[in-house]
Amino acid sequence: MQIRNNFSVRLLMTAALTVAAMGAYASENVKVGLMLPYSGTFAELGQNITNGFKLAIEEKDGKIAGRTVEYVELDDESAPAKANENANRLIRRDKVDVLVGTVHSGVALTMARVAKNTGTLMIIPNAGADELTGALCAPNIFRASFSNWQVGYAVGALMAQKHKTAVSLAWNYAAGDEQTAGFKEAFEKRGGKVIRHLSLPFPNTEFQPLLTQIATIQPDAVYSFVAGAAQVKLTQDYHAAGLKDRIPLYGAFLTEGTLEAQGPSAQGMLTALHYADGLDTPKNKAFIEAYKKSHGEAPDVFAVQGYDSAQLFIAGLEAVDGDTSKKEEMIQAMQSAELDSPRGPLSFSESHNPVMNMYIREARGDQNVMVGMAVEALADPSPDCEM
Ligand code: BEZ
Repeated sequence: MQIRNNFSVRLLMTAALTVAAMGAYASENVKVGLMLPYSGTFAELGQNITNGFKLAIEEKDGKIAGRTVEYVELDDESAPAKANENANRLIRRDKVDVLVGTVHSGVALTMARVAKNTGTLMIIPNAGADELTGALCAPNIFRASFSNWQVGYAVGALMAQKHKTAVSLAWNYAAGDEQTAGFKEAFEKRGGKVIRHLSLPFPNTEFQPLLTQIATIQPDAVYSFVAGAAQVKLTQDYHAAGLKDRIPLYGAFLTEGTLEAQGPSAQGMLTALHYADGLDTPKNKAFIEAYKKSHGEAPDVFAVQGYDSAQLFIAGLEAVDGDTSKKEEMIQAMQSAELDSPRGPLSFSESHNPVMNMYIREARGDQNVMVGMAVEALADPSPDCEM
């Protein structure tokens, strides 16, 4: 009896020592803070990012390196003025291990400053603000989506294949200004000329006065950036104004995720983006099938970006066996990750921004079908990033 008791005590002590050696983290949940828009113009984008993120985690039975994933979700309302308080709440009160967000560039810029000051790991699943992987870049900040320069540049490369003059139309905040700059750079480098820039405040959708100006100026084509629910209003107003067949309308996101609501107003439109429906790869096919099974609808680029944000986090956390205190090792693994994304091969530049193909797509029925390549393996030059 005595011998058996001693044996039990030794067993218990060994188990306790093993747990201690693994670190207290092993039995703790890993906390993911999802700071995204769940209301307003970008609500659907926030939801689809969440769906994509959770799908990648579900594919691992809800655990990364043995640690159960727990979510704290916060509606950022696409409100830059509330971003500081919201990000601090997730980091200081909820003690999240990673901050995932957001859609709106202005909100993300504030989040990145908070992440940088507190050393919190941040993964950006949409916002394109160039500064995030430019002047504000940091070892703990990663982007799994695109830079505004990248998506604008791809559309400029596409439009220059077909047109000589263009007018640009965009919301006048970081995303609109920077995407338009990327567009202009690529378009003019290839011989095009941007003859006028028209803008309106975010999230305004009163396009009529701008469309009247376009009809008067008569450019060869129009470049645009608005997103989410506003895409539907823009293509419908453009069609109703009789411009669709006279002056082709382009954009990166213009027809993404909204084709059903846009109806005939978007059919035939060409866009350039880092995803196309029905890309013929095993990964994309499996992703579409799994997403449809979970959510009853096909995924869009925002769901893909959410999925890849989770894939990137998984790559980092698995490399350190779930030990988030090994920050440097984790960052190293994320930086060198080569992900099999539904969008195609996905790697990361030194500034932690995606390097990826930019596809030309045509809106046909309910799909943005790939019809060519705008730019292969496009990397943001990130000239202002000093890690
Ligand atoms: C942005 O604010 O960066 C953004 C929002 C929606 C779509 C694309 C970019």
